[in-house]
Amino acid sequence: MRLSINQIFNIKSIKLYIMKNATLIGLQETDCKNISEKLNVLLANYSVFYQNTRGSHWNIKGDQFFTLHPKFEELYNSLVLKIDEIAERILTLGATPAHNYSDYLQVSTIKESKEVSDGNKSVEIILESFKVVIDLQRELLNITDEAGDEGTNSQMSDYITEQEKEVWMYNSYLGK
Ligand SMILES: [Fe+2]
Repeated sequence: MRLSINQIFNIKSIKLYIMKNATLIGLQETDCKNISEKLNVLLANYSVFYQNTRGSHWNIKGDQFFTLHPKFEELYNSLVLKIDEIAERILTLGATPAHNYSDYLQVSTIKESKEVSDGNKSVEIILESFKVVIDLQRELLNITDEAGDEGTNSQMSDYITEQEKEVWMYNSYLGK
């Protein structure tokens, strides 16, 4: 049976902090709770995406090496910045960001990649991963819009705009 996000991250004890922070920033406690849970799922996906991209950076082989090795480094540096921003947004909403890979893997739609050395295969995995995070961010756009959570909303909006362009470029690289 799949565990709920509450069971996995054991976040019952932070209820009081959510109430306090929600009041301080003028949002509803239930909205802060729902949004931070979804952000924790997003954080889990980003963390697996990040580590997969490091693996592609290290293990890429062949004539695309000098193009993709630095490109993947640029991508994982961008992902790690977002990981920190998402975690700090969760804290701002009064919740606790998960930080264990064992927890991440239980809720992440993006799965760990293993020993990927082929450039095109790596780019395909990256495109699939962008699809997952963009879809989650779009869900968060709707929820945060209804909750009046402009802070999370604009953060998600910025990520989507940037990543849609990345998708165009990676897809063009594949000649599609
Ligand atoms: Fe490196």
